[in-house]
Amino acid sequence: MTKGSEWWRSAVIYQIYPRSFADGNGDGMGDLKGIRERLPELAKLGIDAVWCSPFFRSPQKDAGYDVSDYRDIDPRFGTLKDFDDLVEEGKKLGIRIIVDLVPNHSSDQHPWFQEALRSEKGSKARERYMFRDGKGRNGELPPNNWPSVFGGAAWTRITEPDGTPGQWYLHIFDSSQPDFNWDNQEVREEFKDILRFWLDRGAGGFRIDVAHGLVKEDGLPDVEEASTTMSGEEGANKPKDRTKPHPFWGQEGVHEIIREWRKVVDEYDDRIMAAEAWVLPLSRMAKWVRQDEYHQSFNFGYLEAQWKADQLKQVVAESLVEFGNVGAPSTWVLSNHDVIRHATRFAYDQVPKQGDGIGPDYPQPDVARGLRRARAATSFMLGLPGGAYIYQGEELGLPEHTTLDGKYRQDPTYFRTKGERVGRDGCRVPIPWEAKAPAFGFSTTGESWLPQPAHYGEYARDLQEGVAGSTLELYKSLLKLRKQYGLGLGSLEWVEEYCSENSLGYTNNGILVIANFNGTPIKLPAGEVMVTSQVGLTTALEHDQVAWIKL
Ligand code: NOJ
Repeated sequence: MTKGSEWWRSAVIYQIYPRSFADGNGDGMGDLKGIRERLPELAKLGIDAVWCSPFFRSPQKDAGYDVSDYRDIDPRFGTLKDFDDLVEEGKKLGIRIIVDLVPNHSSDQHPWFQEALRSEKGSKARERYMFRDGKGRNGELPPNNWPSVFGGAAWTRITEPDGTPGQWYLHIFDSSQPDFNWDNQEVREEFKDILRFWLDRGAGGFRIDVAHGLVKEDGLPDVEEASTTMSGEEGANKPKDRTKPHPFWGQEGVHEIIREWRKVVDEYDDRIMAAEAWVLPLSRMAKWVRQDEYHQSFNFGYLEAQWKADQLKQVVAESLVEFGNVGAPSTWVLSNHDVIRHATRFAYDQVPKQGDGIGPDYPQPDVARGLRRARAATSFMLGLPGGAYIYQGEELGLPEHTTLDGKYRQDPTYFRTKGERVGRDGCRVPIPWEAKAPAFGFSTTGESWLPQPAHYGEYARDLQEGVAGSTLELYKSLLKLRKQYGLGLGSLEWVEEYCSENSLGYTNNGILVIANFNGTPIKLPAGEVMVTSQVGLTTALEHDQVAWIKL
């Protein structure tokens, strides 16, 4: 049952990566106070909600996706009172605060895991996680061939309390992130309680981490291929023709858990759950957003589409059909904290696969090309019906930090692959607010947990605010018109005249959106030009440009 305004059907949700958004106490690490102080800037941008990546107590081995206490704020980010203040400020500004819940695994420092290590094989404490005996004569081999997403094996052997080499535990991510056993009733009850804890505090809802990974296939059979992406595929748009689901991604058993959670969330008005479900094809992902499951799911098929007419047309059409079939809105997203920022991604014809990142040894991007395409891609995306996600900094046209030195890197991927895959730090660098301030206004002291490249100053918000043609003003115009014309709740029709190998055109609630990818100039039709991805386009669109026209 759904109650309330269903605001999420057309919402634009802004992702905050707390470490890198704004530092309110000068220690070089972003925090909740910093977010609250900067929230009015986001209200000016015109978003409906923010999703904050995890701020719970955590040893920060995977930037907070390793939680040791789900009911407290890590002191690096503030206190529960800071969270309450943030929710209050959000209410004043009309911005909901969405919490990032991490149910697939905890930190190895979580009291439950520590108890499991102290307890014996077969104990109730071990049952909450995925402990197994090893293979080989003395159990010296891992129980199966599953790879960790961050590199290496997904199993680590423990030393038993009596000092002997012992069982192995599963960790689909880092060894500091043991997977929970979701067949365990206590785990299930615990998470429902955690949901209530944050809902009672006024959270607008949850982004659920690794929503497709909780349940593992009975017997834990070997994987056919050791892919390290979060879909188990080498590219979101090229799913394998599998006869059965992957043994740890997208198992059917997750749906029962989601339904239990949905009941809890529906006890409260107007709260939502959004799934991070790297599930393919989209017809399968759509199952995650059936009426009694998640409200929304990220659309990774869209995120992984290249800036190419055929790929975008295909994924938009498929998304609208598949999500529409289950009565859910589609969502659209181009960037987040796990992928190369789209202002850089689109500069390349071939990009490294998800999670690998770009380092100083990789061919460096053509920054101008990337930005021009990124602005066009966002202009194309924000005209589409449904919900949209924006990742902090993209409204400034911020590129990836592609030359970050290895000595600063923190992503476990870097360490687990001995630097072979540099990982995701390049999209997580603190964002610039003021061109002339220390750390570009991220912190008052100039401290910054990852160093910002000097050229980040050129993207500072204060240089763009009120400046016609800036990326920030482009985002503001797009979001304002999107709201004004109700595009989120509209419907899309392709305009065949503009759909070709090199261009696309669609209408939504009386707005015609035309994109020129790579072709000869397209003459703009009669009608009022409302916004364009580059200033001054009044008669024709050249390559990598988009225009919105009121018919
Ligand atoms: C997905 C998150 O987005 C990513 O940042 C994290 O490393 C993994 N899940 C593990 O929690």
